[in-house]
Amino acid sequence: MSEPVSMDTIVSLCKRRGFVFQSSEIYGGTGSCWDYGPLGVELKNNVKRAWWRDNVHLRPDLVGLDASILMHPAVWKASGHVDHFTDPMVDCKACQRRFRADRLDGTPWVHYCPATKGNKFEIPAGEPCKHCGARRTLCPECGKGELTAPRQFNLMFKTFMGPVEEEAAVTYLRPETAQGIFVNFDNVLQAMRLRLPFGIAQIGKAFRNEITPGNFTFRTREFEQMEIEFFVNPLDTIEGRPADEVWHERWIQERFAWYGRYGIRPDHLRLREHDAGELAHYAKRTADIEYRFPIGWSELEGIANRTDFDLKQHARSSGKSLTYFDEERKTHVVPYVIEPSAGADRSVLAFLVDAYREEEVRGEKRVVLRFHPDLAPVKVAVLPLLKKRPEIVRVAGEIRGRLARRWVTVYDDTAAIGRLYRRQDEVGTPFCVTVDVQTVGDPQKGEAGDGQVTIRERDSMEQIRVPIAALEAVFAELFDGAAWSGVAGRYPAAQR
Ligand code: GLY
Repeated sequence: MSEPVSMDTIVSLCKRRGFVFQSSEIYGGTGSCWDYGPLGVELKNNVKRAWWRDNVHLRPDLVGLDASILMHPAVWKASGHVDHFTDPMVDCKACQRRFRADRLDGTPWVHYCPATKGNKFEIPAGEPCKHCGARRTLCPECGKGELTAPRQFNLMFKTFMGPVEEEAAVTYLRPETAQGIFVNFDNVLQAMRLRLPFGIAQIGKAFRNEITPGNFTFRTREFEQMEIEFFVNPLDTIEGRPADEVWHERWIQERFAWYGRYGIRPDHLRLREHDAGELAHYAKRTADIEYRFPIGWSELEGIANRTDFDLKQHARSSGKSLTYFDEERKTHVVPYVIEPSAGADRSVLAFLVDAYREEEVRGEKRVVLRFHPDLAPVKVAVLPLLKKRPEIVRVAGEIRGRLARRWVTVYDDTAAIGRLYRRQDEVGTPFCVTVDVQTVGDPQKGEAGDGQVTIRERDSMEQIRVPIAALEAVFAELFDGAAWSGVAGRYPAAQR
């Protein structure tokens, strides 16, 4: 297994090339908030589009929804979030920093060692001091303050609905998109005349006032979820097993395979079952898909069996029936729910990290993001070989304009061709089109152009000559999944 790229390298590439910026950077930044730049927003949209297409458009048993972020506060009481969506926190009595009590042992700690005249040491997480053998008891950051006893801290952001800041107007920024789906269960069921099993999918922002966010876009207080609630008849069995358990397995397999389909290396993914103490208050079983991030193996997506917990809670709390009429058995049932819940920001980070390669090409380092073509923020870059030749620039501009109607296509003439290729490699552009003197000819010498351009493929760096008139058809094939080798074999190699 290759060593993962460091988070610092990814953060620096993201800033330099316009993927991700620190939020409000000119004011010193907002803790754990990040802004997606011109390339980042394209990448993130592509990840969300791939998820939506594969789940909502390609599956006959799923439909979409876009519910509001602000909901009736009773939703969060019924869902259990007001009472249970908490983390235990402790405060340092000296420096006032706040920590999650359950993460203290996983944090490196500062120690003023009495055995070495009080010298300061930074000790790795969970290890004792090598000199005095002590284990951490004080604040891990300042190494001096005592910690308070753990207190429960609710992770929901509170706000006020309307102009009056009083208790009766309190509501919350949603901490998960899932509840928007549950409260719309009957609306969607009736409007779309659905039969179990079926799913409702949603992509949207969620907010959690994390005590210790961090690690770039991995854990942030504002983030985007891609969630499916897949409703199953609790009376159904599949090959003798309860249908909810079988569907849970199917969704775990499907979601695991999805990341591989878009280029994540299989040995960088693994499944991890939640043990009983870790299960959320609503879950019967949960399996996480974990990715090997630069910070270590961490959750990319959780797939939970939420049983009938949420629909029953909302029915009880709202007084409205949230059941499904089972025609065959002539009875009302409360469906069970399987929930594949993915983080859009985490997925983007995983795709970025996994795409990153440093290669040596003719004695020089090449950084390349080997994005799946569906995810690449820019699909084609059109580059003039000589920007001083107006005819070359004109033809390149025309090609860009034509391709841009179907694929994100950029034009760049701000450096020599070698440098332009490297820049596109570094942001993962799958194909470059180069317009040169041969394309347009040289009227002063009485030479006609051949109307052909060079297409260069990012990963192999192979180049072929293709007539301008054939470009759209060639890219349509390539972006529809045709292998480069098959398409390239039909055209002559370009002279380099
Ligand atoms: N809906 C599950 C979660 O937000 O973790």
